[in-house]
Amino acid sequence: MFFPNAFLGAIGFSASLGLGLAQKQVPLAHEDAPRQPNVVFILTDDQDVQLDSLRYMPFVKEHLIEKGTSFNKHYCTTAICCPSRVTLWTGKTPHNTNVTDVSPPYGGYPKFVAQGFNKDYFPIWLQQAGYNTYYTGKLFNAHTVKNYNSPYPGGFTGSDFLLDPHTYDYLNSTFQRNGDEPRSYEGQYSTDILAEKAYGFLDDAVHDLTNKPFFLTIAPIGPHSNVVIKDASPGRDRSVQFGEPIPAERHRHLFEDVTVPRTENFNPDRSSGANWLLDLPQQNQSNIDYNDHFYRQRLRALQAVDELVDGLITRLEGYGILDDTYIVYSSDNGFHIGQHRLQPGKTCGYEEDINVPLIVRGPGVASNYTTEIVTSHTDLAPTFLELLGIPLREGFDGKPIPLTKGEIEVTAQARREHASVEYWGIAISEGIHQVLSREHNTYKAIRLSSADYSLYYSVWCNNERELYDMSVDRGQMHNLLTHPNSSSSEVLIAGLPISKIVSRLDALLFVLKSCSGLSCRQPWKQLHPAGDVNTLADALDSRFDGFYLAEAMRVRFEFCANGYLVDAEGPMWEVQGRSAPYLRDGATWDEWSMNPSRASHISRLMAFYFKLSE
Ligand SMILES: *[C@@H]1O[C@H](CO)[C@@H](O)[C@H](O)[C@H]1NC(C)=O
Ligand SMILES: *[C@@H]1O[C@H](CO)[C@@H](O)[C@H](O)[C@H]1NC(C)=O
Ligand SMILES: *[C@@H]1O[C@H](CO)[C@@H](O)[C@H](O)[C@H]1NC(C)=O
Ligand SMILES: *[C@@H]1O[C@H](CO)[C@@H](O)[C@H](O)[C@H]1NC(C)=O
Ligand SMILES: *[C@@H]1O[C@H](CO)[C@@H](O)[C@H](O)[C@H]1NC(C)=O
Repeated sequence: MFFPNAFLGAIGFSASLGLGLAQKQVPLAHEDAPRQPNVVFILTDDQDVQLDSLRYMPFVKEHLIEKGTSFNKHYCTTAICCPSRVTLWTGKTPHNTNVTDVSPPYGGYPKFVAQGFNKDYFPIWLQQAGYNTYYTGKLFNAHTVKNYNSPYPGGFTGSDFLLDPHTYDYLNSTFQRNGDEPRSYEGQYSTDILAEKAYGFLDDAVHDLTNKPFFLTIAPIGPHSNVVIKDASPGRDRSVQFGEPIPAERHRHLFEDVTVPRTENFNPDRSSGANWLLDLPQQNQSNIDYNDHFYRQRLRALQAVDELVDGLITRLEGYGILDDTYIVYSSDNGFHIGQHRLQPGKTCGYEEDINVPLIVRGPGVASNYTTEIVTSHTDLAPTFLELLGIPLREGFDGKPIPLTKGEIEVTAQARREHASVEYWGIAISEGIHQVLSREHNTYKAIRLSSADYSLYYSVWCNNERELYDMSVDRGQMHNLLTHPNSSSSEVLIAGLPISKIVSRLDALLFVLKSCSGLSCRQPWKQLHPAGDVNTLADALDSRFDGFYLAEAMRVRFEFCANGYLVDAEGPMWEVQGRSAPYLRDGATWDEWSMNPSRASHISRLMAFYFKLSE
């Protein structure tokens, strides 16, 4: 448990209730009886942290940031809407959901259903534990006016979903309520309609509160692009246009002088990143001007979301339940505009795309507090369950996030310091300069952040690699693995040669790319079963040098695919829950160090060492 008794007391649990709440569905009618907490979860779409969008949301600042705890190093596991949302609602990494795209065959609502999750995911677990569950807004992509009822999404007491092809049509949305037919809201502003629906569900929830606590999710489209999907003439592909977001009329005039922050990685003089990014042309002035306009439209579109947050707080206060309710604010993935010469979009592994807001306000959560502990979307389902006293599930790839200041401080020492990142398939550019979407934007990465290190390591499906030392290169402009001096002793990270660091990161990524459950939660322990290695710093001990240079541990792809195809993924740590025979010389440090023939490794090890250093 992450919550000390004092904290449970504060939110009205008695110690004896604890985890038993899951089975307890008895109404708590008496005034003094312990009340189970409620949750309001606001999930925005494509909202960045790195481009400063939160700074333009005064109500979020007043009600959430200053009254709650901000997790500055919160990451999505995959930087695109539907796969990220499926991870969030299942507690599994995308390679374990195999919902890796926004549309079939690799993703979208039909794939979510085909994988069996519609009968076994978060809202269903909440209902089983006695919660009323409400949802309004976007659930997944490819959830459409045609397939909304085959089947209906499971697990909701009340729902009002945005549906494709009008999900991202700010001024002509289609919503679909409970078992009703879809309804079009031509000419009305999407986020304002959504706010009314959210307030309505809050009323419903409060009316039934003596019977059941509630979990209400509100998923506005802001600040996502305005997307118009037109069916083209027969025999041709449908056209999809990603235009700039559309704000409510009352917010059109705001922020006229604001531009995208001109960080070092903004439209740089030389190209940066890897793979297809290296070929991007520098943007000309009219392109930059348009992208600044696109940025302002995002900030403006967020104003209606900001007002929605204020409306919710006012109502929760009016009902007298603000102190029994957690308010959680996040986004499915981040966003870039102009960094590394990219047109507006997501789908990359760079900091702008993967770092997303996570702000929590509620009983026992510290006010106006920020933390740098690394957390990820894979952690949210277990976090919510633990928060509500519902037993965790074995298949979770993430862990509950500590929410009290005391627990955050304690676990900051011991907690996992990395987020795993994975992506398969298309890269999408948005805005008027959109180039055709690119296939094979497939990579795996680790973002690691601790007191000692701030690193990003990636392996692309063409086996290009990147390593950024973000303690000195925040903008990820200097790939140390293509640096001319990377094999010399000139380039060091925290005093150590790059190849030594990469060997550890690569082994960690090797475990993470096929992990499940426990091996995702404790990847270092897979390599060091004795449990004496929990961090990169531990693993860097020189007695492990030989082991980490073992060739078998190297992450590589066989070929570039648009989905999670086992044949493309190269050597695996785990195949169907078991270590692969590929690691015949000893998969763990404990085995390897006992293996008398390990000296035979040396030549191969050295070859590996220098290959990395080239
Ligand atoms: C993931 O789904 C795709 C599409 O259905 C399928 O081709 C692939 O084999 C699946 N991958 C795994 C590892 O099951
Ligand atoms: C709005 O969407 C509806 C379908 O839901 C469509 O029939 C109508 O033509 C659209 N209106 C505009 C102005 O595009
Ligand atoms: C600027 O770049 C855009 C996008 O590549 C291009 O369409 C446009 O023609 C360019 N404008 C000028 C003035 O070169
Ligand atoms: C929140 O913390 C910041 C930085 O520590 C401080 O400047 C600000 O006054 C605090 N705000 C409130 C409402 O306590
Ligand atoms: C590589 O090392 C040489 C020799 O120390 C140095 O002159 C040169 O500037 C270095 N190059 C880079 C790009 O750091």
